[in-house]
Amino acid sequence: MTETKTRVKADLIISPIKELVTACSKAPLRKADLGKINRTQDAALAVKDGKVVAAGPREEVLASVEKDRDCISIDASSKLVTPGFVDPHTHLVFGGNRANEFMMRCQGKSYSEIAEAGGGIVASMRGTREASKEELVELGLVRLERMLAAGTTTCEVKTGYGLDQKSEIRMLEAIFELDERQPIDLVPTFLPAHAVPTGTTREEYVNEVVEKILPAALTSIKNFDRSPDSVYVDVFCDKGYFTLEDTKRIFDKALSLGLKLKVHSDEFKSLGATALAAEMGAASADHLLTICDEDMDALAKSNTIGVLLPGTSFFLNLSEHAPARTMIDRGVAIAVGSDFNPGSCHIFSMPLIMGLTCLHLGLTAEEALSATTINSAHAVGRGDTIGQLAHGYQADIAIWDLAQLEEIPYNMGWNAVCATIKNGVVAHQR
Ligand code: NIG
Ligand code: FE
Repeated sequence: MTETKTRVKADLIISPIKELVTACSKAPLRKADLGKINRTQDAALAVKDGKVVAAGPREEVLASVEKDRDCISIDASSKLVTPGFVDPHTHLVFGGNRANEFMMRCQGKSYSEIAEAGGGIVASMRGTREASKEELVELGLVRLERMLAAGTTTCEVKTGYGLDQKSEIRMLEAIFELDERQPIDLVPTFLPAHAVPTGTTREEYVNEVVEKILPAALTSIKNFDRSPDSVYVDVFCDKGYFTLEDTKRIFDKALSLGLKLKVHSDEFKSLGATALAAEMGAASADHLLTICDEDMDALAKSNTIGVLLPGTSFFLNLSEHAPARTMIDRGVAIAVGSDFNPGSCHIFSMPLIMGLTCLHLGLTAEEALSATTINSAHAVGRGDTIGQLAHGYQADIAIWDLAQLEEIPYNMGWNAVCATIKNGVVAHQR
């Protein structure tokens, strides 16, 4: 039987591909599905106007597309191709650095001892307040360029080192500007409740956040022509930071302003914020090192993604890591991010994070890829447009100087990305 088929147009074709690996699912992946992703050898991928139009076995893809006259062809016959990473948790805008604290930890001091002695988040607050918006943007551009080179194509970015109205808004506006000035799509998160700034009490500061700082953020969001539901509000709910009651108050206010929710919970002590996040419809609850069984079940029943940050437990040299395997078994949709920040995890490299995900969280290479692409896309509310190389999804692609998926975690510490494609355009090439 002969079949006449209309061929779809393509302006970029990657063919042949040694191995193409991608998830293919509308919903975030849970339980055994986390590792069930498509691995195709001798594959091809076609793109038109920044979107994937065909991906899969080479012969099928090539038979289904028609090349535009100026179509770009990339030969990946010896290379691995994956979706670009969606990093769902970073604090990449900050002034100064805390290399001194890293060295203190190497000598046996703990993160909380350093914070209690005036270091920690408030040390970065000082460095960040000293920087102008332009300086924050310049620093951010350099960091984002490195992330792009390591395969990150979408990245969540938090405020949280300003800790007063003026400086938090300056950070938020630096994030908006950074989003416009380089290829990686940024997902902005407003985190004024990251630590209590020096010179005020927790109660006073939470009042300030609820009554003044969140409304000021809304004004800034509107001034930048952005919709409130494209911005998340996050709270660091933990011992020594903010309480469950503070978190609930801030969340109620954020929702009333049309903003969305995320939370830092169970990093050091479980205070109930994970269940609260699930109940209030947060996109994600992040860290979860000390998550209890009830909170795992609350997450499993919800659409809230559990974001794990194995770089942080590694960088803090903790002996315990997040109970990823148990969470997966209980039905939590987990994602993995870098937590790139000046203190607890100065690591932006998602290939290294994938290695730590396999080594310390016990995930397979397939599970680690799902956690850093499709599921992390859901953790930033973008699961319907990014995180997989399937028809209609954004053509955000990493091409690797590797033959197979397992070589990403295996090559921990070496950046094997040879090209990063953003929206169908080669944005970085080595
Ligand atoms: O995600 N846990 C809270 N915030 C960051 C640490 C920020 C810092 O130390 O500067 C984190 O680990
Ligand atoms: Fe964080």
